[in-house]
Amino acid sequence: MTYRVENSWSPEPAPGGTLTVSLHNLSDAPLAGFTLSYTAITRVMPDAPPPENAVFLKRDANYHRFAPPEGFSIPPGGSWTFRAAGLNRAPLHRGDGVKSAYVTLASGDHVDAEVGDLMRGSDRPEEPPARLPEGRLEHPFALVPWPARLDLVPGETPLALVPAEDISAEDSAALAAAGALQRRLFPAARAAVSLAPQPGTHQVAFAQDPALAPGAYRLNFAATIRLDSADADGRRHGLVALVQLLHGATAQPETFRFPATGVIEDAPRYAWRGCHLDVCRHFWPAQDVRRFLDILGWYRLNIFHWHLTDDEGWRFEVPGLPSLTTTGATRGADGPLLPQLGDPAAARTQFYTTEELRALVAHAASLGIEVVPEIDIPGHSTAMLAALPHLVDPDEPPSYSSVQGYFNNALNPAIEGTYEALGLVFDAMVAVFPSRHIHIGGDEVARDAWMASPLSRALMEREGLRGTFELQSYFLRRVKEMLTARDRVLVGWNEVAHGGGVPAKDTLLMAWENPQVGAALAREGYDVVITPGQAYYLDMAQSPAWLEPGAGWAGSSTPEQTYAYDAEASFPAELRRRFRGVQACIWCEHFHSKDYFNDLVFPRLAAIAEAAWTPLAGKDWLRFAVQARNSPRL
Ligand code: ACM
Repeated sequence: MTYRVENSWSPEPAPGGTLTVSLHNLSDAPLAGFTLSYTAITRVMPDAPPPENAVFLKRDANYHRFAPPEGFSIPPGGSWTFRAAGLNRAPLHRGDGVKSAYVTLASGDHVDAEVGDLMRGSDRPEEPPARLPEGRLEHPFALVPWPARLDLVPGETPLALVPAEDISAEDSAALAAAGALQRRLFPAARAAVSLAPQPGTHQVAFAQDPALAPGAYRLNFAATIRLDSADADGRRHGLVALVQLLHGATAQPETFRFPATGVIEDAPRYAWRGCHLDVCRHFWPAQDVRRFLDILGWYRLNIFHWHLTDDEGWRFEVPGLPSLTTTGATRGADGPLLPQLGDPAAARTQFYTTEELRALVAHAASLGIEVVPEIDIPGHSTAMLAALPHLVDPDEPPSYSSVQGYFNNALNPAIEGTYEALGLVFDAMVAVFPSRHIHIGGDEVARDAWMASPLSRALMEREGLRGTFELQSYFLRRVKEMLTARDRVLVGWNEVAHGGGVPAKDTLLMAWENPQVGAALAREGYDVVITPGQAYYLDMAQSPAWLEPGAGWAGSSTPEQTYAYDAEASFPAELRRRFRGVQACIWCEHFHSKDYFNDLVFPRLAAIAEAAWTPLAGKDWLRFAVQARNSPRL
């Protein structure tokens, strides 16, 4: 490594404090005539005072570029230090500072620099607490989520589960699929399923019970285990539970046992048991998404909400709009989309081919998971607008900024080409995603968006619209009509209801800003899924400690707090029919590696899976603490 960047933060002047950045020249040549670019979520604002000992050249969202004072050169082994105040907010955790950096040499070449954690100079940083307590088990069985009712006597651990004689080809394939899931998630573990009986294996028989609810199952343990269900979901749920029981008993025999006799009667608490994944801020290749789907299946989550577009990138092919996956899917030092959030200098083009999408949708279906694709419009659209510049009002000056620091990043409701492009996008989505749900985002449009666009002003005049959110409502109503024409339900973030919203029929909104917003939306007639940032955003740090990795803007949530949160508790009983379920969200601004992903997502994803599945009375933090240690990881 030729260069290294260190950074620290001090609280003066309030409110944002000061970032001190140093560039260390580890090469054997002086460094002169260069600039330093870095990405940091703690941003230097447009009205910031000039930095000390540097010239501020550019900022675009998290991307910053500085030059040293005229004529400055760093000798080998030396460093250059500068200070920037006027920050968007005080950082909360060690990951809130410089995430990546590169030096641009006089030749124009870019050289990546190594980057350290953000240090807080003013006091001794607090250590993060342990994720899970020791816990205790009343019943020695490995099951996450915990079933609605269980009455089991522990016994010997069988060698493997095998099909009983005379079971149907379909039941046999379902048993094999549950075994294959365990093998993929735990390749080093003993196989829980075999199709060939041996001494020591335990037979599984299957029965239809039409009286059972959708997704419900009953497991009777005896010389032959009998799995009753009314439908394929119930059968799969029962098989995954069975495989979990055996996997736990073989992988951790000191903790878990397999049942000899008894019964499990189980059914999901909610129909919508979701998990969202942002693949725009950080791209997860198809094989990682596939494994993540396996993990969702293991926890009996049934909705994969795939956040496929954002300011930072467009991630799927659209016939007729090839620039979305060239320009719109590429970030790099030479633009047009600049490095963000830990990116290196070298350009990377990252998207899923249609073939990959189809394969992942089929894989999800085999696990009982519906893939709900999201395009985040009209805000969060920098990548789409970079790819399709004819969708920008040419007379609109830079006039508004999103909370993430993107200027003029919303699709313009007054440009017909916007709807034409979206028509092609929705056609592409409908061709690939069989789900009736299409998520269109609708969040975080800046308060003053479009107010300086002459085209939007003319539309407001013509339609009698007042302000940004009535324009947004006009736009989203047209989008809803486009989805209805394609027999799709509109799903969106809670701000879809702003400015008059959209018709509530066949609309599902996700309450993320706070727990109360869900009840307010239900009162307006919308169906809701609850996913509060304060408890269910798995990018939030797991404690307020400075050294804890993760974001802090929605607060922090320990695994215990995430586990304890009950979305229904504050939901009015008379509106319960609008409450569809709960969802985890994994926003990836901070997620630069799989290790990081695993540390933030587990065990909290399992905690949300239990909230989605297990009746409140069956939840037990100390029992969960033992079982959650055994989680599969990405
Ligand atoms: C969101 O977190 N902006 C939905």
